[in-house]
Amino acid sequence: MSSKNPLRSPVGKKLITGITGLGLVVFVLMHMIGNLSMFTGSDAYNEYAHFLAGLGPVLYAMEVAIVAFFLFHIVNGIQIWLGKRKARPVGYDTYRSAGKPSQQSTSSRSMIITGSILGIFLVIHIISFKFGPGGPGNADAAYVTNVGGTEMRDLSKLVLEKFGSPFYAFGYTFVMLLLITHLRHGIWSALQSLGAMRPSLTPLVYGVGAVLGMLIGLGFIALPLAIYFHLI
Ligand code: HEM
Repeated sequence: MSSKNPLRSPVGKKLITGITGLGLVVFVLMHMIGNLSMFTGSDAYNEYAHFLAGLGPVLYAMEVAIVAFFLFHIVNGIQIWLGKRKARPVGYDTYRSAGKPSQQSTSSRSMIITGSILGIFLVIHIISFKFGPGGPGNADAAYVTNVGGTEMRDLSKLVLEKFGSPFYAFGYTFVMLLLITHLRHGIWSALQSLGAMRPSLTPLVYGVGAVLGMLIGLGFIALPLAIYFHLI
């Protein structure tokens, strides 16, 4: 029996994935810019994290929204992929792009793989940093610092420690490269689903996705590598 709810249709699912995906792009962009404050010094980074923690209920509301966006994005993304598999249970022998104007590319076919790895990364990431030493429910006097007379979590110490290890520095670099391919296709696809695309706009919108994805990914990669190679 087919569902009457338009949001449960394949187009509705693409819309939900696109809208939540664009919301997450705003989040990762802000997060990446926030991380770059570490280049101006540990105190600036700790003060920024302390300012966010001080937002209290506003921060909780933002966190609930981010979790909801991730969940809707992941669930709908998996359903789209399952729907496509059902439509073509036997894969292509040789997978070739349809060529222009098709925007099928390696990243568009690998969304489920890059997305799944990013999902696993996210769980490890939140456990390592947000709930790491000095974080909520994990008080640790060694990760408390004093900046300008105010006691706060020494998040900078944790970040410096983690990215001193090759596992974290290069693991993060690898995952951020996957993030670039995920965003490159995702931003383009979301804008297309939202109808923002007329054929004449295709190259521009595709370019925006590629450039924004690259900027966000490289902005993230800068910190682990700079720390690992003692550049900061
Ligand atoms: C080099 C890359 C990254 C670094 C160094 C980094 C660093 C951090 C740190 C230190 C925190 C803890 C913040 C706090 O407790 O105040 C955090 C939280 C978080 N990060 Fe990242 N992050 C990176 C990449 C990413 C990416 C790519 C995503 C998403 C795909 C992401 C999603 C999150 C989320 C959802 C939180 C929890 C935010 C909250 O609940 O307040 N991070 N990150």
